Amino acid sequence: MITPNSPTPILRLAPSILSADFARLGEEVRAIETAGADLVHFDVMDNHYVPNLTIGPLVCEAIRPQVQIPIDVHLMVEPVDALIPLFAKAGANIITFHPEASKHVDRTLQLIRELGCKAGLVLNPATSVEWLDHVMDRLDLILLMSVNPGFGGQKFIPSTLDKLRTVRQRIEAHQARGGQPIWLEVDGGVKTDNIAEIVRAGADTCVAGSAVFGAPDADGGYHTVMRELRRQAAAH
Ligand code: DX5
Ligand code: ZN
Repeated sequence: MITPNSPTPILRLAPSILSADFARLGEEVRAIETAGADLVHFDVMDNHYVPNLTIGPLVCEAIRPQVQIPIDVHLMVEPVDALIPLFAKAGANIITFHPEASKHVDRTLQLIRELGCKAGLVLNPATSVEWLDHVMDRLDLILLMSVNPGFGGQKFIPSTLDKLRTVRQRIEAHQARGGQPIWLEVDGGVKTDNIAEIVRAGADTCVAGSAVFGAPDADGGYHTVMRELRRQAAAH
């Protein structure tokens, strides 16, 4: 059961631990939870689907007892299916994957849900929204990449704004037909100076890696930056 930390359910903030201090990861995830994060965004890279290598199920299992908030696992791996049971067992609450990295997208979505996790598709900047066409009823969230996956600290790609509007319309049409709720998450280059237009374009969940972990925490920096992200988003 996902219970957002946010007082306003309109915007969920998901700090990406890709930019955290890995030598102090337990402290870092506790600090973002205390500072008001709604989700822990957990980037899994395999040096095959993306040109970088990060963390796996063992690290997910290690941080799970450190926080109450859901862990949002973003799989940038190919193939996808074999890792899903391992992450479900390691305490992941949400699992998203890139559809072109799975041979059987519908099956992969079913597998995630059968294991008790929320399921989502991730679309790269140049990946068509048509991937959503036949699976809307299997989705709990849609994640739009606003950078090319593989690294933190990249610049937001502006064409994501149009794509957000398109996908928001699709979600609304789906719900008007009695469909289940679907979150719309955006990932990459989200900062205090662009979050307002991102939320205005339709995002309800924002990943922020370098924006959050780049803040010095000694004087409550994580709290300050997350409050500012929410303040800017509310001003939209
Ligand atoms: C990129 C990752 C992102 C990344 C975002 O492939 O999926 O989650 O950590 O980092 P920022 O917010 O720094 O762009
Ligand atoms: Zn991510």
